[in-house]
Amino acid sequence: MSVIDPDDISSNPTANPHFDTVVQAAMSRRGFLRTGLGIGAVSFLTVPLAACGGGDDDDEPAPAPAPTPEPLLGFQQIAANSADAITVPPGYVSQVFCRWGDPLFPNSPAWTGNATEDSAAQALQFGDNHDGMHFFPLSADSSTEGLLVMNHEYINSEYFFTPGVDAGTAPWTADLVRKSQAAHGVSVAHVRLEAGQWKVVIPSRYNRRLTAFSPFALTGPVAGHPSVQTSADPSGTIALGTFNNCGNGFTMWGTYLTCEENFNNYFGTMSGSDTRNAAQKRYGITAGKTSYRWEEHDARFDYAKEANESNRFGYIVEIDPFDPSSVPKKRTALGRIKHENAAQTLAADNRVVVYMGDDQANDYVYKFVSDRKFDPANPMADRNLLESGKLYVAKFEAGAVTGDAMGTGRWILLDLGTPTTQPGHNLSGLFSSQAEILINARQAADAVGATPMDRPEWVTVHPTTGEVYLTLTNNSGRSTTDDANPRAKNIYGQIVRWREAGNDAAADTFEWDLFVLAGNPVATADRTDLASGSANVTVDNTFNSPDGLAFDKDGRLWIQTDGNFSNTGAYAGQGNNQMLVADPVTKEIRRFLVGPSGCEVTGITWTPDQKFVFVNIQHPGEYGSHPNKPAVSPDEDALAFSKWPEASGGRPRSSTVVISRADGGKVGAP
Ligand code: FEO
Ligand code: CA
Ligand code: CA
Repeated sequence: MSVIDPDDISSNPTANPHFDTVVQAAMSRRGFLRTGLGIGAVSFLTVPLAACGGGDDDDEPAPAPAPTPEPLLGFQQIAANSADAITVPPGYVSQVFCRWGDPLFPNSPAWTGNATEDSAAQALQFGDNHDGMHFFPLSADSSTEGLLVMNHEYINSEYFFTPGVDAGTAPWTADLVRKSQAAHGVSVAHVRLEAGQWKVVIPSRYNRRLTAFSPFALTGPVAGHPSVQTSADPSGTIALGTFNNCGNGFTMWGTYLTCEENFNNYFGTMSGSDTRNAAQKRYGITAGKTSYRWEEHDARFDYAKEANESNRFGYIVEIDPFDPSSVPKKRTALGRIKHENAAQTLAADNRVVVYMGDDQANDYVYKFVSDRKFDPANPMADRNLLESGKLYVAKFEAGAVTGDAMGTGRWILLDLGTPTTQPGHNLSGLFSSQAEILINARQAADAVGATPMDRPEWVTVHPTTGEVYLTLTNNSGRSTTDDANPRAKNIYGQIVRWREAGNDAAADTFEWDLFVLAGNPVATADRTDLASGSANVTVDNTFNSPDGLAFDKDGRLWIQTDGNFSNTGAYAGQGNNQMLVADPVTKEIRRFLVGPSGCEVTGITWTPDQKFVFVNIQHPGEYGSHPNKPAVSPDEDALAFSKWPEASGGRPRSSTVVISRADGGKVGAP
């Protein structure tokens, strides 16, 4: 998102030590005092993760040199650019499909091109603002036919409605609210490769839209709790809708996880007064009217009329894409936060572990560990493993050595018996049940002293080492910027990674280091200045605001950005939002794709043979405060900033891009 991103504004009132403080402290001793700020910081970023941990690592013998690994990256890096186009490396081709408004069903109306669709039409078409996505092969390991499941995070009113509506000169109606709700949620699309082109199969029994008014079951400890009971659902077990579905996950038993992120932006009030309680403020429920304006025609979105409705959102939602009649399940045991994505792995004893970020400035990283175990020999034996388990929140500590930007960490259990930072108190003094802790996970995490982070976005787990990588997109809301402390206002973001103790994902402790400190050597030529980024950032691969993040099966780390695309000032030379690929061992990072004007690149999945990578292009044309923004508003000319993907007209549309190699090889590989 551009303009002012509300996620940049912290709603965390606590004074828990900030992750950035930990990093700065780590830099200050070894890096700053011994070798100079940038050099020290850069050098620790080249130390293998396995070297960090207890004891004084100055005295430890150097590990034996590892054999030279096979190269992971095999494509030619592309230059940054500001074109209204998709750019991919030489030898690669791309195809666009699954555009906002495209048909999914035999009775889907054709896309009008001028946003005059009503709610009934939109409910039969692909939604807007594509985000997290996963390809499920339709038959065992098929790489030519599958179910492509994708999130539709939000809408851009200026492109989504006809000009008079967004300009406020046309009446705001119940059907416009319903149309907006119908463009949110999730699409399940049966897709097939035919004559070299990917197509949506219509009709297909699998094709499905889940929207902001589809029924979802609340499962787990929160189901039925008085805080989720409403006038329409006194049982507190069926919530209508999912929305602001950001990143995603998938399970080992063939289901899709969609992650409810900024649900708070949809709840406000027409009452004219701010009557939010502390919990509603901690989650950022809107004080007055919302920009989406659902509360004007759908009373459940007015917190003064239906106080508990917002407690039914902010969850990880599990969808079975293979059963179109199934009711998706909100998995409340994984906590209620502004969920970015959900990265699943297995503990040493085969309990299921899910890592999750809460995307807001100064919020936290979480881990869920299931009560029951996954059976690799019979993956479908228990498809409710996310129904019960333990929820933890991360505390990042400097470790034994300060000054090396690596350290140790602890997972703090969020249950009634956990001590808070107030001596002699535990969470049972603040909450009366686990359901209350889960509904108010942020406040529970505040109370136990979790580490506030620079906006936790996507998490991903390395397919063989089990190392966990997390994007921290930026924390530009901080105001203490100066040349001597250049990351105080963190406008570029970073990627942190950790390894669980004993390589067991269920461990209580971990070791962490920074994989990359994004920065810009074009704008800051002095490489001792942390604004220039860590050593693996160059003038040729510079980027800001890492967000989407995923490993492919071979261990290539794919990094997607949602940041400032002005290409000027601090962002000079970075161009449009993009996707890069990294080697986690050498730390080399190469730019693989540049998106069109105003877009964010987000959501990634592969066919099993890795010959096709699917990537979502979200909100092309969203220009916000871009320095070269058009003189006219989108109301006057929807095509002024971006026409992508239709060069000849229409209006900018979020879409899926499929990228493959002309020689039929594996994407990204040599
Ligand atoms: Fe929906 Fe944090 O990105
Ligand atoms: Ca340290
Ligand atoms: Ca995101």
